[in-house]
Amino acid sequence: MKLLQVKDSETMARRAADLIGAQLLLKPRCVLGLATGSTPIETYAELVRRFREGALDFSKVTTVNLDEYCGLTGENPQSYRYFMQQHLFGQVNIPPENTHLPNGAAADPAAECARYDQLIEELGGVDLQLLGIGHNGHIGFNEPDTAFTAPTHQVQLKEGTIQANARFFSSIEEVPKAALTMGMSAILRARKVLLLAGSDKAGILRAALYGPVTPQVPASLLQLHPDVTVITTGAVQ
Ligand code: PGA
Repeated sequence: MKLLQVKDSETMARRAADLIGAQLLLKPRCVLGLATGSTPIETYAELVRRFREGALDFSKVTTVNLDEYCGLTGENPQSYRYFMQQHLFGQVNIPPENTHLPNGAAADPAAECARYDQLIEELGGVDLQLLGIGHNGHIGFNEPDTAFTAPTHQVQLKEGTIQANARFFSSIEEVPKAALTMGMSAILRARKVLLLAGSDKAGILRAALYGPVTPQVPASLLQLHPDVTVITTGAVQ
């Protein structure tokens, strides 16, 4: 694992954009695994800036996002599809048909999860997976549990996650209680992982990186991955 402790979120975004940009240059037809949440917003803005300067080309890139709320369509401003459209997809030259998220509004969530895993498989897996980390150690919506769940699956969100995400909604009642999330398998099979964490995550990041590998801290499984870069503004060591 490579740990970069940087001074502020602007530097974190620049370093993250450097790594994602390098991936695009090395393999223009790459598969990026993407994440939502507040942490990657500046990174997306930096990628958009570099695209506008002519330094990056997304025309051959395919993306697969980690997760989506159940019950929300892509037109809903709270959906992760909408978030991605606002922050990245609508701002760069990625073909819309190359952008994938689980469909949270699918009538049959189990079939949708199976479709998503098959899609990732057909794409040849993820080249670079961008991740945030929840205060409880979740990645994607893989919440603390008694066992790791490998495939894409439906999860009931923990109360703490619902509270943390309520800031994006007008009331906590509006926060969906369930989501579809990529499981640990596709995340761990990504060829590279890039985890971003602000200083508010220093405690859980320390537990994830240096504590026991346990489904109680889903991000701890990343200790088993051979190519993880962590960029953080927190004091982890
Ligand atoms: P945040 O969320 O970037 O909004 O803190 C990260 C996460 O919950 O995975």
